[in-house]
Amino acid sequence: MTFNWGLIGPGRIAEKFAQAMQAEGVGTLKAVASRNAERSRAFAEKYHIETAYDEYEKLYQDDSLDGIYIATLHNFHLEQALAAIACGKHLLVEKPLTVTAADSERLFAAARAKGVFVMESMWTLFLPVCEQAAKWLVAEAIGEVRTLTSSFGFVVPRNTDDRLLSPGLAGGVLLDMGIYTVATSQWFMQAYPEKIVSQVRLGATGVDETCAIQLHYPNRKVSHLLCSFENKYDNDLIVQGSRGRIVLPSNFWEAEKISLIGADGSVQTVDCPFELNGFEYQIRHVVNRIATGKLESELMTHERTLANQRIMDAVRREAGLLAAG
Ligand SMILES: NC(=O)c1ccc[n+]([C@@H]2O[C@H](COP(=O)([O-])OP(=O)(O)OC[C@H]3O[C@@H](n4cnc5c(N)ncnc54)[C@H](OP(=O)(O)O)[C@@H]3O)[C@@H](O)[C@H]2O)c1
Repeated sequence: MTFNWGLIGPGRIAEKFAQAMQAEGVGTLKAVASRNAERSRAFAEKYHIETAYDEYEKLYQDDSLDGIYIATLHNFHLEQALAAIACGKHLLVEKPLTVTAADSERLFAAARAKGVFVMESMWTLFLPVCEQAAKWLVAEAIGEVRTLTSSFGFVVPRNTDDRLLSPGLAGGVLLDMGIYTVATSQWFMQAYPEKIVSQVRLGATGVDETCAIQLHYPNRKVSHLLCSFENKYDNDLIVQGSRGRIVLPSNFWEAEKISLIGADGSVQTVDCPFELNGFEYQIRHVVNRIATGKLESELMTHERTLANQRIMDAVRREAGLLAAG
């Protein structure tokens, strides 16, 4: 039996989801909804989608759908997810799940009460490079993990209409790009930081445009994270251990190779090409978990989303972007 997906918000990232539907075991994209009827129709035509709705609510109420992918802007995720949950729909929601940890707690509570599956889309953690990194960590190939450094920075055009620079549309670099550095740090370190130190530069529109974050973990482990709309960085990720290091090359969040560098300078590089575009791994995971009656992913758990968001809340609060909580 195929898994029928519905999608709301046929914008940039929705294209990637629709293209991933060519892969095995990810289901079928059966319906799309946009506030704009023409955008919905054009997307449906492009990807051979059976139904194009001009209202999200019609899609939430479509009983032929097994799950919904929410691909709208983050400040709308909570309200839209709650409406879809009320209709009993399982959900994959683009990152960040919501804009604060408190909002995500509310969303997860509603999903639990209704008995539906919800996962934040963090496709990076499902990629073959992460499976390879996990094997090396289990084998203690780099010894004890000590530091992690990672960056995600590009020069974003000064278009003040862009959602990235808009405070009203939850713009800002941390929620958009820095989240990958935080989520990957949390995945490697497997702990919550004891101390969070951050420096944030706000831009002309009032959103965070550059963030430097240090996460101090138990046993003196530290992550150094950078994200920026103003600077192009190396955009790689290095996990330094007592006996070597693991390197995800640029762009680390979509890497298709990974290297293990020994303390003696030896280099082992493993190619991990995508089957399709990289989105297929998390979509397949979600389809499988929903089919087997799970309400939560064991990889991208609710607690993992909340921990990442608590860290981002702390950074944004320190920068004056979030009220004291
Ligand atoms: N996983 C990834 O690699 C990745 C990459 C990029 C973005 N994202 C995440 O995906 C989400 C969408 O990002 P995107 O770049 O794809 O966005 P986008 O193309 O700018 O917009 C996506 C959809 O959001 C709705 N939308 C846009 N502007 C709106 C506004 N002013 N008011 C109300 N709705 C609006 C529209 O839905 P309608 O068609 O219904 O109008 C649009 O189709 C964000 O949460 C982002 O963080 C994830």
